[in-house]
Amino acid sequence: MNISLENQVAIVTGGSSGLGRAICLAYGAAGAHVVVNYRSDEKEGKEVAHLIEQAGGKAIAVQADVGEEADVDRLFATAINQFGAVDILVANSGVQKDAAFADMTLEQWQGVMQTNLTGQFLCARAAVKAFRLQGDRGVSRAIGKIICMSSVHQVIPWAGHVNYAASKGGVALLMSSLAQEVASEHIRVNAIAPGAIRTPINEAATQGDAAKKLLELIPYGRIGDPDDVAKAALFLASDLADYVVGTTLFVDGGMTLYPGFEDNG
Ligand code: NAI
Ligand code: BGC
Repeated sequence: MNISLENQVAIVTGGSSGLGRAICLAYGAAGAHVVVNYRSDEKEGKEVAHLIEQAGGKAIAVQADVGEEADVDRLFATAINQFGAVDILVANSGVQKDAAFADMTLEQWQGVMQTNLTGQFLCARAAVKAFRLQGDRGVSRAIGKIICMSSVHQVIPWAGHVNYAASKGGVALLMSSLAQEVASEHIRVNAIAPGAIRTPINEAATQGDAAKKLLELIPYGRIGDPDDVAKAALFLASDLADYVVGTTLFVDGGMTLYPGFEDNG
């Protein structure tokens, strides 16, 4: 079945790399006009937009730091100026700044919160305002869709990554509280919680011996590909998911089944 996002405009934050890149390409192939956000990797951001255009789609790359209010306002204004509307936001940008708890600096704590949680707040708020202003454009059953990129670590505690796990736990309730607040306006807010997907964020953990150890945590027996998440993002943005409101879709090869309990406990 082909999923169409024809005539819809999608902003994907952190679209220059990893999961965001795969989502941009999937949305472009589905006919969406794609705004590829990047923070500093201009070359990669422009390359993603170029690939979408080469395949016959429409895309622009826009620099913005999602943790900065003025940047987020400019990102949305540029999207609306270029494509006339915003129908889909994928709030995907995220960082890890790992440290043992007692060694974690305030900068590492705040840096993760700024991008992973404040960034989601700023982008989702801008999206809700844009959806309300433009109203029903007749391109989808919902007047707008927001997909928050969470993680299995919204439920799985993660020693050495307290800032990251706390930010994703925050995303879970940001998402569901917002979903509850705007559902009656036909704005659909959902999240994706990926498990271990091979991208630059976890390069060290997904190679060689570390990868073998990681596989012990994945009942399905493989590390995920960015496309596994892009397919979920395509579904959630489409009308196939029109009755899916305020939920988190785990795309994790069973990581949240806690496989350590299979023969223990
Ligand atoms: P990645 O490192 O390849 O991509 C992260 C993206 O976020 C990059 O494009 C980067 O430029 C962007 N970014 C970082 N700070 C930003 C800022 N302040 N403003 C705008 N953009 C910013 O890593 P990946 O894996 O693609 O991560 C994407 C999201 O998926 C993150 O939210 C991450 O927490 C989440 N995730 C990833 C998993 C994985 O196994 N790869 C698993 C669960 C969640
Ligand atoms: C992290 C990855 C990690 C995965 C599974 C994600 O949220 O960003 O580094 O591999 O969770 O633990």
